[in-house]
Amino acid sequence: MNLEKYGPWALVVGGSEGVGAAFARLLAADGFRLILVARKPEPLQELAAELRGRGAEVRVVSADLACPDVLATVRAATDDIEVGLLVYNAGANNTRGLFVELPEEVTQSVIAINVLGQANFARHYGALMVKRGQGGIILTGSLGGYLGSPTLAAYTAAKSFSRIFTEALWAECAPLGVDVLHLNIGFTATPAMARLGMPVALAEAPETVAREGLENIANGPVWIVSTPGNRERARLISGSDNRAETVRAHAIAPRDQTAQAARDVKKLVER
Ligand SMILES: NC(=O)c1ccc[n+]([C@@H]2O[C@H](COP(=O)([O-])OP(=O)(O)OC[C@H]3O[C@@H](n4cnc5c(N)ncnc54)[C@H](OP(=O)(O)O)[C@@H]3O)[C@@H](O)[C@H]2O)c1
Repeated sequence: MNLEKYGPWALVVGGSEGVGAAFARLLAADGFRLILVARKPEPLQELAAELRGRGAEVRVVSADLACPDVLATVRAATDDIEVGLLVYNAGANNTRGLFVELPEEVTQSVIAINVLGQANFARHYGALMVKRGQGGIILTGSLGGYLGSPTLAAYTAAKSFSRIFTEALWAECAPLGVDVLHLNIGFTATPAMARLGMPVALAEAPETVAREGLENIANGPVWIVSTPGNRERARLISGSDNRAETVRAHAIAPRDQTAQAARDVKKLVER
């Protein structure tokens, strides 16, 4: 990763485990200084200690992205430094259910993190990058953002916002020297997925996802991670005009069926 263009500091939001930690390790190896944001202080401190042990300068911020004042909290740790790269990674959905039955705080938090959070962080750090005429922004998406899925209404809609938002931001910022990328990822072996009981042994490695994001930051507006099956699924579920049929046929399945689908894809690929 080009430290001259995207450095000296990289802000990784959701940067204590999984894909976020993989971003942090790759960036530290390339000489970036890091600000890592997540809720739980212990994993943040552990990763920071590991990266400092390899010579990186690291700041950590323990904050909840669902809180309305989160940007102010993070800014308190970044207003005195130059953030040349924003990676907004956090955003997974861990509670599924009918939208009208889920507690309001569950769906509000998904929208706050993925919609308001991505927009507010991109506005603040993007404006500073545009002033300097350089920098990069990576916003994490999901294949789920190509299709409204029952039991995941807020999540799939929020990821769709992220993709469309990124496309526009990319077009606005590219002539001003700032690269913007929507990193669209499929099933990935993160601790969040493992905690939900998903068969992460069949999933993509977080390091591959992060590496593809960094290597393709200038190939926006959208990069779909090259895990076999991802691009085919994106094409299949976004290309059809018959939305009723597509939504019924291709909705994200309940978790046990998703696990079976992952096994089937793996078998096909290994053939
Ligand atoms: N894993 C997959 O299969 C998959 C598939 C498609 C898309 N994605 C997308 O990839 C991104 C990463 O997913 P993930 O599976 O690693 O899970 P995640 O929970 O979105 O991300 C994990 C990181 O974000 C932090 N985080 C989560 N909620 C937070 C909050 N409210 N405030 C502050 N930090 C928070 C976690 O630390 P704390 O828990 O300590 O806060 C951790 O550092 C997400 O945007 C997700 O939608 C993932």
